[in-house]
Amino acid sequence: MSPNAESKEIENIPGLEKVDPVKVEKYEKLTNPLKLNDETMLKIRKIFEDEMDLGLQVNPKGCLQMANTYIPQLPDGSEEGEYLALDLGGTNFRVLLLKLEHGKMADPIVKHFHVREDIRLGKGEAMFDFLASCIHQFLESNNMLSRKLPLGFTFSFPMYQKSLSCAHLVSWTKSFNCEGVVDQDVVKMLNDAIHRRGDLQVEVAAILNDTTGTLINGAYLDGTCSIGLILGTGSNACYLEKVERVKNWEGEKPSDIKEVIIDIEDGAFGDNGVIDFIKTEYDREVDNKSLLVNSFTFEKYFAGQYIGDIVRVILVKLAQEGIIFGGKLSTKLLTHQCFNASLLSSVEQDSIQMTTTNCRKICQDLDLEYDDEDIAILKHICYIVSDRAAKLVSITLASLLDRMDKPGLVTIAIDGSLYKHHPRLDALLKKYIAKFAPNRQFCLMLAEDGSGKGAGLTAAIAQRLRKSN
Ligand code: BGC
Repeated sequence: MSPNAESKEIENIPGLEKVDPVKVEKYEKLTNPLKLNDETMLKIRKIFEDEMDLGLQVNPKGCLQMANTYIPQLPDGSEEGEYLALDLGGTNFRVLLLKLEHGKMADPIVKHFHVREDIRLGKGEAMFDFLASCIHQFLESNNMLSRKLPLGFTFSFPMYQKSLSCAHLVSWTKSFNCEGVVDQDVVKMLNDAIHRRGDLQVEVAAILNDTTGTLINGAYLDGTCSIGLILGTGSNACYLEKVERVKNWEGEKPSDIKEVIIDIEDGAFGDNGVIDFIKTEYDREVDNKSLLVNSFTFEKYFAGQYIGDIVRVILVKLAQEGIIFGGKLSTKLLTHQCFNASLLSSVEQDSIQMTTTNCRKICQDLDLEYDDEDIAILKHICYIVSDRAAKLVSITLASLLDRMDKPGLVTIAIDGSLYKHHPRLDALLKKYIAKFAPNRQFCLMLAEDGSGKGAGLTAAIAQRLRKSN
């Protein structure tokens, strides 16, 4: 990206100069709570840091799980062999075959499977049977049914790990809510499903979260990578923590390791009410309509599953107050999630390019009567919701950079649809991380498919660890 393009992304902030001042005054009153000033940001940062420390204790209290991943190493170039990788976290389940030779990865073979709603909300056992049947289909279509392959399982939900291959589900998030899985060892549930079939030889070598996969894949691409971030349907981050700070360790802590990856599960930041001072009426409404009410508070402020709906509920409120759309609502606008993250990105695209084509199409598709003032307000809302998202994510990343205190450059590997498709988020993140961590050198790197490639690499690291023990 050229430097000019980057500044355009930061500078073309939509204004309200052409909107009736009476409307602007009312609009600002209703949207001011979404704006976070420096004092509030510092307060959030302090709370985040305190919660991280609490989460690392023996009987973790607080809202951040700070899950120990038991991964004490990053790829070092010695990874070899063939690995299966599974990637479960959304409606699209993937099975991959990865080949590593002298630490280099060839293009993986990948197969996608749609996870229907009845599976996502049905019985746990049936869901794992479905995963096992997908593994079977994948291996059969690649003539590999008899192969005994180590498997890396990316399971993008909060889990409590007891080792690299034992993990209990803490809670479902996003669009999943299968019965009988919370508190269970998901590796065991997958292995049981594999054994129930009796026709597969695969064996789970490692389980990981998608943030962990992103960090591992990031480190494979760039040796300065120490943070993984997902900004997709859900959100979460992980980082390299000094081992002496990690008290939540099952079994004996190996004496020869210095760092371990900690999966923060920061989507749950604020579940204990500690940052309720930033919660607006719009956030409350989005939460009330979500699948798992009163949980995953932080994620609901900005992740892809929710960010569009925040815009929608603000639009509804403004229409009810007679500030936009001639005070009229449409059935579509009243429909939960009819305004998704990709529409927010299209509106932001219009703002950056100083056009209105996308905004007009969106209003037409939503059966809304609109004029130029409405378009200006719509653009402004999408900007302030995006700006708040960037500030909240940046404050956590700035805290991590300071906490890790690494000399020199730290690369933050990022994956996720929201980050990839939002035209301004990358520029805003850079701006705010630099503001909140002024003494740190950092760079953001898109590290695509950490959930797939990272799972294969983690399985390879698990093999290496096993051999060396
Ligand atoms: C889950 C995390 C995951 C994140 C990104 C969240 O809802 O709790 O475990 O890393 O989504 O997929």
